[in-house]
Parts: sequence; C-alpha cells; structure tokens
Amino acid sequence: MVRILLIGCGSVGRGFLKVISRKMEWLRSAGIDPVIVGVTDSKGGLYDENGLDPEDVLRKKATGGFDNSISSLDLIEKVDFDVGIETTPTNAETGEPGLTHIKKMLERGANVITSNKGPLIVDFHGLCGFAKKRGLSLKYEATVGGAMPLISLIEKTLAGNEVYSIEGIFNGTCNYILSRMEKELFPFSHVLLEAQELGIAEKDPSYDIEGIDTAGKLVILANAIMDMKVGMKDVEIRGISEITPEAMELATRNGYTIRLIGEVRKNTGKLRVYPRLVSKSHPLAIYGTLNAALVKTDLAGEVFVSGRGAGSIETASAILNDLIGLYS
Ligand SMILES: NC(=O)c1ccc[n+]([C@@H]2O[C@H](COP(=O)([O-])OP(=O)(O)OC[C@H]3O[C@@H](n4cnc5c(N)ncnc54)[C@H](OP(=O)(O)O)[C@@H]3O)[C@@H](O)[C@H]2O)c1
Repeated sequence: MVRILLIGCGSVGRGFLKVISRKMEWLRSAGIDPVIVGVTDSKGGLYDENGLDPEDVLRKKATGGFDNSISSLDLIEKVDFDVGIETTPTNAETGEPGLTHIKKMLERGANVITSNKGPLIVDFHGLCGFAKKRGLSLKYEATVGGAMPLISLIEKTLAGNEVYSIEGIFNGTCNYILSRMEKELFPFSHVLLEAQELGIAEKDPSYDIEGIDTAGKLVILANAIMDMKVGMKDVEIRGISEITPEAMELATRNGYTIRLIGEVRKNTGKLRVYPRLVSKSHPLAIYGTLNAALVKTDLAGEVFVSGRGAGSIETASAILNDLIGLYS
C-alpha cells in the first residue's frame, strides 16, 4: 500500500485524481496499491486514513464539499503518509507555499513528487540534499515540459552520458504565439489576444511571454542534470513581446522561423532564454503548444524529445511516472 497525501487540487491535482482512478486496477496489478489519505486546496481539504475515493474527492471539490477546518500544514503534521504530491501554484521568487510543504513532508519521512517549479528554482540543492540525507526521494519530472519525458530520459535512459547542452522549447504559450505569427504574419498583440481567448495564454501572460517560465525550467535542468549551482539571477532572459511580423516574414522568406529557446551549456556555464532563428528543417521548429528538447551528449550524441508541456492529464502522467518509479 502507498499512502498518498495530495497538496493542491487545481488542474494538475484533479488530473492526478482522475488518472489514479483510471489506472487503479493496473497499478494494483503492478504491485502498487495507491491509497489517497488526504487532499487539500487553499481553503480546506478531505482526510480519511482508510482511503478517499478519488471520484468522490473530485465531486466534493466541484461542489464546495471540502472541510474548511482542514489545512495543508495540519495534514502534513498529523497524517501518516508515504508520499506527498505537491501541486500548488509556482512562485519563482519565494518558492512558497510549496517550499514549506515539501520541507515539512520530507521532515515527516515521506517521499515527495512535485509539479511545482517554485521550490526547486529557489532551493534545488537544499531540498535534494535534505531528502538524500534522510534516505528519501524528491521527484520532479512534471516541473519541466509536463508530459515530455526529459528528466527521466536523461537520468535513466541516458545514464552514464555526459550532457554537454540542453536546448529546447519549454513554454507552449510562446510556441503557440510564434507559430501563429509565422503562419498568419499577425502582430504579436493580436495573436496574444487570440491565445488568451482560447485559454492558451493566462490573463496576465507576462510570466510566459517574458521568458520567466522558461528560465525557471532551465534553472531546474542546470541544477539537476548539469551539476550546476544556479538560480534565476544567472539566466540571461529575453522574451518574445518585441518580435514583429516583419522580423518573422524576413525569417520565413530565408527558410527560418523564430522560436523562444531556452539553452544551458556545460562548457560556458551559460543559461539563456531568447528568441532565436531556427531553420524550418531543424527539429526544434515545432508548432502549436508542443514542447521539445535537444540534448547533446558524449556517448549517445544528439537526442531529441517532444511532447505536451502542459495539461491536466498530461502533467498527471508525469507525476504518475514518478510514483511508479518510486514504488515498482
Ligand atoms: N497546469 C499545467 O499544465 C502544469 C504543467 C506543469 C506544471 N504545472 C505546475 O503545477 C502546479 C499546479 O498547477 P495547476 O495548473 O494545477 O494550478 P492551479 O489550477 O492554480 O491549482 C493550484 C491548486 O493549489 C491550491 N493551493 C493554493 N495554495 C495552497 C495551499 N497553501 N495549500 C494547499 N493548496 C493550495 C489551489 O487551491 P484552490 O483550488 O482553493 O484555489 C489549487 O487547488 C503549479 O506550480 C504549476 O506551475 C502545471
């Protein structure tokens, strides 16, 4: 039996509950018997040491049926659980509330899986060192590229390789905007509005379009994969808001497109987010909301991966993969 405490019941948290419900039989047959002992959101939660029915939690979440006397920190302190899943909103400056949740879950002796970038951007080595000292695991596949299996690809499938560089498209909103600008040659502001109407861009899109979100993912990759000790201040960041239809037209006429690329290089130690000319025949010339990454290594050479960087079920797929990795 694996007792799970889920902190955060938004898009990703609810996706995880749906996935657990859908895959319950398969998980049991694989020898993992997941039991959700507690779930919280910002205002309350649910708790049952004998296990909550994921479908019932989803119903109660939708109908305001969470118990307001329950708080995340209370459950973390009092409930017995094996793994905590942290899916609260990302705050790249303070890491909170996720940073405190993760520390306290590790202090309780639980493994942790997170989709929340904030705590890792702020204190990657502190948290990983803390987990390691206690013989626990901190897993975070969902924080970079959603369902795109990048961290596990490098850590497991490419184990033993030295990674020279990682360059990629880590923000689906920017990629959608640039894809549309390329196709229609519309101005940036027009396409941004369209993306907001479609729910692809946030009401306040600055985090995405100014490159901050991509920079946070680079910081996690550099610390996790490249053995660096870096934070947001170490990333050179330029977003996409100044790209004009004229620049895009010039690029396409010459066989290129423009994409927001995040790159980290081991030899220079440099982390950069910037709009770059990409040949239309290059693997990173991807379209729509997809994410992609090109990893350069000493043994395997170049490895390319692409997938859905966001989405409720897609991101839950990465969390499920971390869970299976921990308990199979
Ligand atoms: N959405 C994606 O596709 C995606 C992909 C990769 C990574 N991520 C990351 O995953 C995390 C979750 O994303 P999301 O889209 O699910 O966000 P979301 O829809 O805004 O959900 C966040 C959840 O956290 C809850 N919350 C806020 N403060 C809390 C607290 N102190 N204690 C307990 N719960 C708290 C919210 O409560 P209420 O319900 O009461 O508001 C909500 O349920 C974020 O860090 C995001 O960056 C998301």
